[in-house]
Amino acid sequence: MNEKLWGGRFSRSTDELVEKFNASIDVDKRLYGSDIEGSIAHLKMMAKESIITQDEADTLIEGLGKVKEQIENNEIEFSAGLEDIHMHIEDALGKVAGDVAKKIHTGRSRNDQVALDVRIYLKKETRLIIDLLVGFQKALVKMAQKHLDVIMPGYTHLQRAQPVLFSHHLMAYYEMFKRDIARFEDCFKRIDVMPLGAAALAGTTYPLNREFTKEVLSFSKVSDNSIDSVSDRDFVMEFISHASITMIHFSRLSEELILWSSSEFSFISISDSFTTGSSIMPQKKNPDVAELVRGKTGRVVGNLVCILTLMKSLPLAYNKDMQEDKEPLFDTVDTLKICTDVYTRMFENIEIHKNRMVDACKQGFLNATDLADYLVSKGMAFRNAHSIAGQAVAYALNKGKELDDLTLEEYKELSDLIEKDVYGFITIDKMISRRISYGGTGFDNVKKAVNKAAGELGV
Ligand code: ARG
Repeated sequence: MNEKLWGGRFSRSTDELVEKFNASIDVDKRLYGSDIEGSIAHLKMMAKESIITQDEADTLIEGLGKVKEQIENNEIEFSAGLEDIHMHIEDALGKVAGDVAKKIHTGRSRNDQVALDVRIYLKKETRLIIDLLVGFQKALVKMAQKHLDVIMPGYTHLQRAQPVLFSHHLMAYYEMFKRDIARFEDCFKRIDVMPLGAAALAGTTYPLNREFTKEVLSFSKVSDNSIDSVSDRDFVMEFISHASITMIHFSRLSEELILWSSSEFSFISISDSFTTGSSIMPQKKNPDVAELVRGKTGRVVGNLVCILTLMKSLPLAYNKDMQEDKEPLFDTVDTLKICTDVYTRMFENIEIHKNRMVDACKQGFLNATDLADYLVSKGMAFRNAHSIAGQAVAYALNKGKELDDLTLEEYKELSDLIEKDVYGFITIDKMISRRISYGGTGFDNVKKAVNKAAGELGV
C-alpha cells in the first residue's frame, strides 16, 4: 500500500533517498501562484462544460483561495514525500475541501499542468524584465542627455582611435538594450500559448473547452499539438538565450565602467554607495557592482548551456529530465532582474570627469584620420593621403610631438598641399562636427538620437 497520489499500482513505498532525489518542491514551490491560477481556470471550465457541477467548482475554488493563504502564511509544511508543488496543493486542497478535491485533476496531467504553470510564471516575469530594461534605458538616455557636450576617445582594439561623443557611446548601449527588449517581446508571443488540455501527452477523453481556459487565463492562443504541448521547452531555452545576450551586454558595459573608474583612465567615479573598500588596502574603492554583474553573466550563460544540454536528444513527450528546467530558469530570472535593477540605480551615482575624457583625446594621434581627410579635401587620393598622414605620425612620434604641434615647415616637408588651415581642421571639436554621416558621432546626429530616444521613453 502506497499513500502517494499516484500510488495505486505500487505495493512498496518509495526508498527514502529516491523520494528526496525525486522531489522538486524546494525549487518549484515558487510556482504556487501560477499553479492555483491554472487550477481555478481549469475548474471554471469543467463546471461550464458540466464535467463537474458548479457547486463542486465553487467549493474547490474557495478551497484553493484558502490554500493560497496557507502557503503565504507559511502554514503548509513542504515535504519531499509530496514531490512537487502540484501535489502539495492538491493535498492541501483535500484537507480544506474534503473528498471533492479528488476531482480537480480530472482531464489533466502534471505534464500539461507544469507546462502551464511555467508559462503563466514566465509571462509575468518577462513583462517585469522588459519594464526593468526600459528603466535602465531611461537611465542611459538621461546620462546621455546630461553630457551631450562631453568628448571622449573612441577605441578600437582598446587603442585610442577617434574622438566620439560620450553620449554617442552611451547610445550604443541604448541600441543594444533596445534589441534585447525586442527579443523578449518576440519570445513573449511564444510563451503566451496555453498548453492545458494536452493531459499526459495524447489529449483527453473529457470534453474540455480549451478556448475557454485560454480566455480565463488571458493567453493569446491554445497549443495545437498535445505531444508538443508537454514536450516543448523551446520557450525556456529562448528566454534564457535572450537573457544571456542581455547579460553579455551588461558585462561589456561593466568592463568599461571598471576600466574607466581605474586611475589609469579616471573617466568616471562611481559613488561610495555603489563601491566597496578593501579589508587590507585603505586607499581602495572597488567597482564591485560592475564586477559582480560581469561575473554573474557567467551564471546565466551557464544556465543556457544547462537547459540546452538538458533538452538535447530527449525523446518525445515528457521526460523527468525536464523537471531540471526550473533551476536554470529561475536563476536566470532572478539574476537578470537584480542586475538590471542595480545597474539602473548605479547609473544615477556615476560622476563623469569631462576634462579627463577630452584630455585623453589630445594624445595618441586621434586626429590622424582627419589629417588624411584634410589632404583629400585638398585634392589628394585617400590612399596617398593615408600614407602621408602615417608619415606625419611616425615623424611626430620620433620628435615626441602630437600632430597639432608640428610646424607648417615640417608639414610642408610631407606635402606641399598642407597650409595653415590644417590646424583648424584637425581640432577635436571639428573632428566631431564633421562626422555628419547618419548614425555617426556628429553633434547634431547624437542630439537627435538622444532626443528621439528620450521622446520614446518619456524622459
Ligand atoms: N515536477 C514535475 C516537473 O517539474 C511535474 C511533472 C511531473 N510529471 C510526471 N509525469 N512525473 O517536471
